[in-house]
Amino acid sequence: MKSKILSIESSCDDTSAAILDGLVVKSNVVSSQEVHGKYGGVVPEVASREHSIHIGHVVEAALEKSGTRLRDLDAIACTRGPGLLGSLLVGFTFARSLAYALQVPLIDVHHMQAHVLAHYLEKVPPSTPYLCLTVSGGHTQIIKVYNPLKMEILGSTRDDAAGEAFDKGGKLLGLSYPAGPTIDKLATEGNPRFSLPHPDIPDLDYSFSGLKTAFLYLLRKQLANDPNFITNNLKDLCASLQKTIVDVLLDKVIKAAKEHHIQHIAIAGGVAANGGLRRAISSIGESLGWTVHLPRMAYCTDNAAMIGAAAYFKHKAGIYCPSTAKPDARLVWNPEIK
Ligand code: KG4
Ligand code: ZN
Repeated sequence: MKSKILSIESSCDDTSAAILDGLVVKSNVVSSQEVHGKYGGVVPEVASREHSIHIGHVVEAALEKSGTRLRDLDAIACTRGPGLLGSLLVGFTFARSLAYALQVPLIDVHHMQAHVLAHYLEKVPPSTPYLCLTVSGGHTQIIKVYNPLKMEILGSTRDDAAGEAFDKGGKLLGLSYPAGPTIDKLATEGNPRFSLPHPDIPDLDYSFSGLKTAFLYLLRKQLANDPNFITNNLKDLCASLQKTIVDVLLDKVIKAAKEHHIQHIAIAGGVAANGGLRRAISSIGESLGWTVHLPRMAYCTDNAAMIGAAAYFKHKAGIYCPSTAKPDARLVWNPEIK
């Protein structure tokens, strides 16, 4: 079956377009919006305006880099949700209009399922069933993957996502948004000597809001004695915050792996780029006999190639976007990818 797909991702602050031939990535162009750094977080209005400015150029660049003409395309894919509604609308409307103009099908994709399916862009995808810890700025989930079109959420966060824990913790340290990559870098030279609490949440669920509060209290207490406490201890604070988040994440992955008797373990999403998490899961995996799958960095953070991977499986199964469908900021998870 011919499957040359242009995919578009615009759910948050990255405008991205990719061309996939089957599961082979021919191009994957990402334009990141630096503008939000100075506001300490993504400003939805600004994000949608930036998407409108960049989307045309990003799509053109993806076509050009892959040597693809519009008439070569068999389908157009885009993220339908979850995400920021204004941002989703830009990508969705662009994709729908182009699909209509070219008279090819439109494939709508769930952003979190696409993060998981980024693994199918690698040479050796995980054997099924496998567990995928999906950790991003908006989600934290342990997912059991039966096949690319059938997944089950075993646990998720009850409040903040793991990425938010990095970003909010970083904000308290005076780091600019997104703080995750900066904390990752600083933590490599720090000692995780500050102890922070682990939440006591049943089942396979997570909670990170208590960690943020505990971190705030720790900083307040220390700053009362030493106004330069953060500057003088920045690397150790980053290492401590990162270690706590990683330990909390992996405790539940170990539990899930035991309960479900699964030894194929993957991670996905922006936080999957974290060096501490990658090292820790590799070392735990080695001691527990897991086969661990780490996506390459470009496929961890938001990118259109992963949307193309999900679209490939839907195209193969003949599942397309209904003509009445709209982007949905809170698009619910469907166990079957439909
Ligand atoms: O998947 P993603 O690009 O966008 C969402 O779907 O949310 O994830 C973005 C999140 C942000 O919270 C960012 O701080 C975090 O991923 N992140 C990291 C790293 N790179 C990105 N967190 C920790 N360490 C990193 N190296
Ligand atoms: Zn994402």
